[in-house]
Amino acid sequence: MSYCSGFFCPMQRTKRNLFLVFAIFFTAIYLISYSYNSARLAKSDDRHMESEASLLKKVFPNFKQISGKENGELPPENEKSENKNTSTSTQSFTFIINEEEKCKDKAPFLVLLISTTAAELQHRNAIRKTWGNETAVPGVDIVRLFLLGIKTQDANEDLLLRESEQYHDIIQQDFLDTYNNLTLKTLMGMRWVASYCSGTRFAMKTDSDVFVNTVHLIEKLLRPLPPSTQNYFTGCLMSGHRPIRNKASKWYISEEEFPGNRYHPFCSGTGYVFSGDLAAKIVNASLTVKFIHLEDVYVGFCLNAKGVKIVPPPHSLFNIHKVPFSPCVYNKIITSHHISPHEHIIYWETLQEKENTC
Ligand SMILES: *[C@@H]1O[C@H](CO)[C@@H](O)[C@H](O)[C@H]1NC(C)=O
Ligand SMILES: *[C@@H]1O[C@H](CO)[C@@H](O)[C@H](O)[C@H]1NC(C)=O
Ligand SMILES: *[C@@H]1O[C@H](CO)[C@@H](O)[C@H](O)[C@H]1NC(C)=O
Ligand SMILES: *[C@@H]1O[C@H](CO)[C@@H](O)[C@H](O)[C@H]1NC(C)=O
Repeated sequence: MSYCSGFFCPMQRTKRNLFLVFAIFFTAIYLISYSYNSARLAKSDDRHMESEASLLKKVFPNFKQISGKENGELPPENEKSENKNTSTSTQSFTFIINEEEKCKDKAPFLVLLISTTAAELQHRNAIRKTWGNETAVPGVDIVRLFLLGIKTQDANEDLLLRESEQYHDIIQQDFLDTYNNLTLKTLMGMRWVASYCSGTRFAMKTDSDVFVNTVHLIEKLLRPLPPSTQNYFTGCLMSGHRPIRNKASKWYISEEEFPGNRYHPFCSGTGYVFSGDLAAKIVNASLTVKFIHLEDVYVGFCLNAKGVKIVPPPHSLFNIHKVPFSPCVYNKIITSHHISPHEHIIYWETLQEKENTC
């Protein structure tokens, strides 16, 4: 017997209509979520913020969103997250503190991206007064930024906000500030350059316990380069390195995180220098390169994915150890590691006094 008789017939039709309504509804939901792929794993709050931001953008073309998920820079192919071989760990996070205007009306020569934690206030203050001084090198436009994640326990956020208001040199995203999240910190810096300062000639990523002779970096390394520098990446070159499986090592990495037995060439995270165009390329590569927590090794993977060859620097400019201080030696190097706040100041002041004696 047919079900379409008497009482059941209208029910069938209703079910069919319901089915159609649901099908249209879910297709619409799919299309909407497709275009907001970056918010996929983010908090629902963020997703709300983001759609609000795009609405605001339509109404006020000059509206700038505070969120870090500006995928507008990336081509549409990358908005497809479905077949992406990427870990959730490289998803972009949201800026809590940002400096969107730093490069507004200018294309600086050099952006300094300095990895630091909230507790290292003394390091930051020393760097501000010494090698990280934005006006330290006459005639050269330098932008200094400290990179931070968030801490859960201490309520230092207020202090950090005040510091940020005073110096305007802090950017912070909402990932936990841990050693194993340093890759996220570096990617935040790359994203910032790609989104807010893509015209910069060069950028350098370094750490707050590294002394950087910015004068030598600019005068000896960057200024003599040909003007159309692209795909330029240099630093203390590490090549042929193998993953360390000894759990006691600072650089331990599990087989699960990285199953291979050799890294691509990379530059030590204590200090690497690159042309501004590479920031966007590294961010782009990070969408498909599997996440590993060793930020410098990871950047090496991204460069390899983009076919960028690292340029070996002239001998002993970049040092991953602490170079014993002497003005003659420090006048001719770019980086030296394991430097205390006090040493940043003494070394810099001595170099200013002894600039012409060596
Ligand atoms: C994703 O990356 C991992 C590690 O690099 C690799 O083993 C795996 O084959 C990749 N999967 C796809 C679908 O490309
Ligand atoms: C930065 O350098 C300039 C030029 O040498 C100097 O006048 C200024 O006082 C320095 N800023 C800080 C904070 O030390
Ligand atoms: C990295 O940050 C994310 C986001 O805050 C957090 O969930 C994760 O636990 C952190 N990872 C490590 C190893 O601390
Ligand atoms: C980003 O990567 C895709 C391929 O994955 C490429 O087609 C596109 O040109 C890249 N964009 C940039 C800015 O490098």
